[in-house]
Order: sequence, then C-alpha cells, then structure tokens
Amino acid sequence: MKIVFVASEGVPYSKTGGLADVVGALPKALAALGHELQVILPRYRMTQPGPGLPESQSLTLPLGSGFKFASAQDGGCVHNVPVSLIECPEYFDREGLYQQKGEDYPDNAHRFAAFSLAALEFLKRGKTPPDIIHCHDWQTALVPIYLRNLYREDAYYRNTSVVFTIHNLGYQGLFPPHVLPQIALHAGLFTIEGLEYYGMMNVLKGGIIFSDFVTTVSRKYAEEIQTPEFGCGLEGVLRSRGDHLKGIVNGVDYEAWDPATDKLIAANYTLASLKGKEACKKELLQKMGVQSPMLRRPVIGIVSRFASQKGFDLIAGIAEQLAALDLYVVALGTGEPTHEELFRTMAAKYPEKFLVKIGYDNTLAHQIEAGADMFLMPSRYEPCGLNQIYSLKYGTVPIVRATGGLDDTIASFDGKSGTGFKFQDYSPQALLAVIRHALEVFAVPKSWLRLMYNGMKEDFSWASSAKEYAKIYQSLQKAPDRSAAEALPAGDVFKRGGS
Ligand code: ADP
Ligand code: GLC
Repeated sequence: MKIVFVASEGVPYSKTGGLADVVGALPKALAALGHELQVILPRYRMTQPGPGLPESQSLTLPLGSGFKFASAQDGGCVHNVPVSLIECPEYFDREGLYQQKGEDYPDNAHRFAAFSLAALEFLKRGKTPPDIIHCHDWQTALVPIYLRNLYREDAYYRNTSVVFTIHNLGYQGLFPPHVLPQIALHAGLFTIEGLEYYGMMNVLKGGIIFSDFVTTVSRKYAEEIQTPEFGCGLEGVLRSRGDHLKGIVNGVDYEAWDPATDKLIAANYTLASLKGKEACKKELLQKMGVQSPMLRRPVIGIVSRFASQKGFDLIAGIAEQLAALDLYVVALGTGEPTHEELFRTMAAKYPEKFLVKIGYDNTLAHQIEAGADMFLMPSRYEPCGLNQIYSLKYGTVPIVRATGGLDDTIASFDGKSGTGFKFQDYSPQALLAVIRHALEVFAVPKSWLRLMYNGMKEDFSWASSAKEYAKIYQSLQKAPDRSAAEALPAGDVFKRGGS
C-alpha cells in the first residue's frame, strides 16, 4: 500500500512531544512490513532541511478569499522513508511550533489549513494517489475535512482512505465560526452533526467525523475517551464512531532509546552488565550541580511538557514532604508558568535535593532516563506516554498514575513480577504513598534489581503495533465506510479553486 503520514511534527525535523517520536518511528516500521511510505511535515524555523540544495515545487492554495503560496521541498530520507517539507515562511518560520511564550499563535487555524491544503495539493502531483493518508491530532484533522468536502468530487482521491490518530484529546483546535470561510470551509459544515461545538468550530471533531477510521494511542485511552470524564465533550461523537475506533499502543524506537547504544549518556549498559548505570547517575548529579553526589540516595527523574495534564498540581501538593525525604528530584521541562515556577521555587529552596532545568534539552532527557532510579509520571490523563516505556529499557522504574497508556504499559510490582508502581486516586496523598512504597522497595537491593530486570526485559518495539495499523489500512482498502461523513448535508460542496 502507498501510505502517507501528514503531521505537524516529527523527529528529526521538529518536536515538542511524543507525537514527533511516533511520526519519526512508525513509518519506518510500516516500511519494514513492505509498504511504500512518505511523510509530509511543515518546515519550521527549527527544521533542518535535507542535505544539499532541496528540490522544491511551488503550490498555490485557495485559502479564504485569496490565495496563499507555499512550496514542497525534498527533506531527504529518514531510514529510507522520503520526507517532504511544506515551506510557507509567513506561517512556519517562527520561534515556536504552535505557541510563543505560552500563548497559541492567533492564526493557528490558517497555518494548519494552509499546511493541510498544501499536503493535498502536493500529493496530487504524484504519479499514483495514496491508498491511505494517516493524519495526527487537530493540526492535520483538516485533511479529512477537506478531502470529504472541498475535494469530494475529485477523482484523484476517490480511492484514498484516511486514518486519523488522536494523540491527545485535550487539544481540539477551537476557533470562532467566522474562521470557516477564511479556511475554505463552507458555512453548512457548522452544524451539531458537523464542526459546531458549543458555538465554536472544532477541528478535531471534524477529523473524527470525516476520517474512515479513528485510532488513539492506547487501548485504555480508547475506552476512556468514550466517557464524560475523559471525553472532553466529544465522548458522544467518539461513541458514535465506536465501531471504527481502536486503541493501538505506541512503540519505542530502540535505535534512539536504548542504554546499550545511546550515544548521549555517560556510559552504556545492558541487562547483563549494569555497571554503566551508576556512572550515568554520578554524571547526571554532577551535571545538575551536586558537588559530591550521594550515589545510594535514589533519584526520581521527571522529563515533561509542563502541562496540567501531567499532574503537576499533585507534585505541588507534596513538594515539601518530598524535600524532607532522602532522595533527589531531577526535573526537566518547560511549559505553563505555574509549573515552571513550582520547580524554580523548590530548586531555590532545596538546591541539594531539587535539581531542575527549565527548557527543552534532548540530551539531558536521555541522561535523566539513564541516570535516575525512578521516573515519575503522575498524569491526570495520559493517552499513551512514552517516557515510562523508555524508562523500562533504562532500568529506571516508572511511578505512574493508573490512567490511559500508563496503566496499559506498566504492571504493579508485587515482589516478583511487575515493572513499576501505580496509584489510582488523583490525590497528593495517593502520590506520596506510592512514592514512599517505591522508596521502601528501593531500600532492598535484591527486590529492586528484580524490578529493574523485569522492566528492561520488556519489548515495546514498533513491529507489533505497526502490524495492527497495517490491518486497519487493509480493511479500509476493501470497504471504506463513509456513512458518517455522507450523512452530513452534501449541500453546497465548495468547489476547489487553485491548483
Ligand atoms: P507528550 O507527548 O504528552 O509530551 P510523551 O511521554 O508521549 O508525552 O512524550 C514526550 C516526549 O517529549 C519524550 O520523548 C520526552 O523525552 C520529550 N520531552 C518532553 N519534554 C522535554 C524537554 N523539556 N526536553 C527534552 N525532551 C522532552
Ligand atoms: C500525546 C500524548 C502522549 C502520547 C503522545 C504520542 O502528546 O499526551 O500520551 O504518548 O501524544 O502518541
């Protein structure tokens, strides 16, 4: 099959979170199954284009009452998968991907509309249409919306199916209704069965309705989002697509995240020889400013976007008690000012215990995975979560809240089997109790080693999840079910302008 990934971020070109890791790794795993893959990403300021002079094709996009001009550049190949970069400096040559100083760019709808249209126009230059376009999160939800509306009568895309993956339901792309015509969408789409959502246009909702199949990134999150507690108001729409909705757990790219080969850490180590892990711990503590590291004292690592989703209010609730315990907290992250402030304050007050870097730093992220003893993810909700799975491979025991992918990927340690520690109640007390329990187990080296081994033996490589995606693609080739999209008023389908 010819499969095209259209996404707003992907390593090694751009990254703010786990979406980029998935878009960097899953195409490679699908290509290994014998499919033809292509990836389309925006070219941001942070994006390093491919080597040499990129070949580029100009594109004219019918956006609003006028046209926008973009180009598609050859971004080179990553593990034999060709990557194309959409360049439109007005929209993408900016400091951030989606925000600046914690504020969303006000023209995000226009930016990702232009990107989605550019991807569709660029694909039309190909010799054969794709069998599958695989889109991710609200930023590319406009691809299925355009395909089933603007391009509804376009013969080129007649046999192209769309799979849409929700990596995070918390970001929906909400814009006032007057934006619809500005991004080439007909006002007829603004109905309760369409993109309307409490008086706003909801782009993610459109992705759910107009895609042929919807997936999310763990089995448990697929169930959770169909309930009012986790559905963010879209549980009804998701339930209505229940027979075309599946949770497929993310995998790990062990070429990037394996302590046996990781070039970013102080020393390599394996299950058979753990010596290097202590060197990693020592170097991490020294790098974070501890003059004489106490290597027997446990290190709890945190690497995260600082967003409310991640449970930082729970950490705030027990920060003083944590500081009183015999441990180090090493935290790396950036995001919402309150959470940054929490860690800055704790680091200033307890410089020997709270070792903090506010910012984005991939090398330090690897060094924390390798040098910490435990990894903390007390998320309020977590669609999948990747760091807890990376932690398993690094012998760094995850402490997680039993939600979404965290619950699916970590099994509670019972003294023999299990890979980490889990707590249920979203409360500071429950978090403190599970940390205390982890510290007790840490104090018994034999049990701790067992726990590390259990995690390091786990295999979350992409191969099996890639097969599950391939099965979905194949089922759509046989019989795409467009009943949900077709139930919407065919009305005035906007005719495509431009080329
Ligand atoms: P999310 O996608 O919700 O942010 P995930 O656990 O799926 O959560 O993925 C987060 C990814 O982003 C991981 O690869 C993690 O190492 C990386 N990451 C998050 N914050 C930072 C940071 N401040 N510096 C470096 N890497 C980070
Ligand atoms: C999202 C989720 C995270 C998931 C990642 C990749 O950002 O918050 O849980 O692992 O996407 O799918």
